Amino acid sequence: MVRVSSQFRRSGGKGAGEIKAAACGWKEGNGGGPAPGAEIKEYKERAGGAFQAAFKAAYKTMCLTIPAKVIAIDNPVPGFPVANITVEDSKGRKEIKSLWLPELKVGDWVLYAYDTAIRKVSEEDAREILELLEPKKHIDISALDTGFLEVLKGHSTGNLSRDGIVRLLKTEDPLEMETLFAEANTVRQASLRDFFCIHGIMEFSNHCAMNCFYCGLRRDSADVVRYRMTPDEIVGAVEDAVNRRGYKLIVLQSGDDFHYTDIKLVEIIRRIKKSSKVFIFMSVGERSIECYRRMKAAGASGVLFRFETSNREIYNLIHPGQSYDRRMELLKGMKELGYYIASGFLIGLPGQTAEDIADDILAMKALKVNMASIGPFIPCASTPLATHQAGSAEMTLKVTAVLRLLMPRAKIPVTTALETIESEEGRRLGLSSGANSLMFNLTPERYRGDYRIYPNKYHGKEEVWEKYGLFNEELSYRMLEKKMFEAFEVLK
Ligand code: 5AD
Repeated sequence: MVRVSSQFRRSGGKGAGEIKAAACGWKEGNGGGPAPGAEIKEYKERAGGAFQAAFKAAYKTMCLTIPAKVIAIDNPVPGFPVANITVEDSKGRKEIKSLWLPELKVGDWVLYAYDTAIRKVSEEDAREILELLEPKKHIDISALDTGFLEVLKGHSTGNLSRDGIVRLLKTEDPLEMETLFAEANTVRQASLRDFFCIHGIMEFSNHCAMNCFYCGLRRDSADVVRYRMTPDEIVGAVEDAVNRRGYKLIVLQSGDDFHYTDIKLVEIIRRIKKSSKVFIFMSVGERSIECYRRMKAAGASGVLFRFETSNREIYNLIHPGQSYDRRMELLKGMKELGYYIASGFLIGLPGQTAEDIADDILAMKALKVNMASIGPFIPCASTPLATHQAGSAEMTLKVTAVLRLLMPRAKIPVTTALETIESEEGRRLGLSSGANSLMFNLTPERYRGDYRIYPNKYHGKEEVWEKYGLFNEELSYRMLEKKMFEAFEVLK
């Protein structure tokens, strides 16, 4: 199959960025969710099989929702939700079913998945969501270099060589870049439909025993106000993120801080697993494999542990006292323990070439990571790389796209570093270049500013995305569980 051409046939020449929408379930409240249990039961009894069928259909396809306006309502039953409605979105009018949406009126806006409306939203929210997902401009591929097209076609037959990757990474031609992004976007849609997820990261300590040249939290950074969250604070903040906001997967991150002994970390994980239904990913740096074994046994599901660069020379230069081999050994050990592996590298490190980045990408594929976490290097004052140039957003997007071509089903988040150099546009660009998840900062406000691995970390518009992508605990937790299980199946 040659996806390059099918992409253009299918989308009628439209370019990258055709993200429709997505979510992981639904949540009560926020503009009209399901009504309380008793009423649902009553409605179920009246509607019988129709409700069950609609519910099943919506459950199966819960991962994509699209905002649309209600144009007509058929057979309204007074006091009960409607069964059939006509909605209108950018693709035209469509008859769909409706779940429990009390008091739905013509002119209202809903989020629908395939043929079932799931939730009422305000017009303002709907428009804001549509704006975030706005498609990009038309691409004319007739002017494309044939060599470039050959490389791009190669990926669909499993023939994306190191040279091919370098060719893609080196392009600065706007049309080629846009084509690459569009292709990655198509691969994402073909392999994951429009599913994307919102995850959270909570930075619970900014103390660090390491001295990495790029990081603002390095041991020698004297101007950092250091903090440590207590176990109570961590557990409480996670509970809030899960129960009030609907998060299902949270990364707990800190510097390499051995104040949190293995026992303390295990205890924190146990307490969280007891109080909140959430997947926990640990990002606590270089601990013993025994520590990782114990955290897994306590309930941690994944790790976020980047190898930063696969070029040993660069690695040694910027990681004094650390060993590339040890890091890779640890990563492999974590994989053997059955962790869901999130790993990745930095873009724009001193001396790093497109060839090095191609090797980083191939290392990710060889490691069979489940989540590819990459981002541009951002210079930070008081570090040895303070005056080094930042990594580029363009290169980050190209890397995202190539990763998607090579790992069609991997989770690829838009990382905060890209958002920091590109703001909201970074999110949209990332998602339309092959990324399929967002990672929002859940660190309590009073500590957030002090977790300065680099300056001016972006955050904004989270509430809009959350309204759209975070829903009812149980259903979407189960969906995520299924996705994570599939990830293991695919990568076995
Ligand atoms: N710019 C971008 N990313 C950084 N990280 C650390 N410092 C910086 C920086 N200055 C990333 C590293 C690390 C992750 C927690 O943050 O890749 O693994």
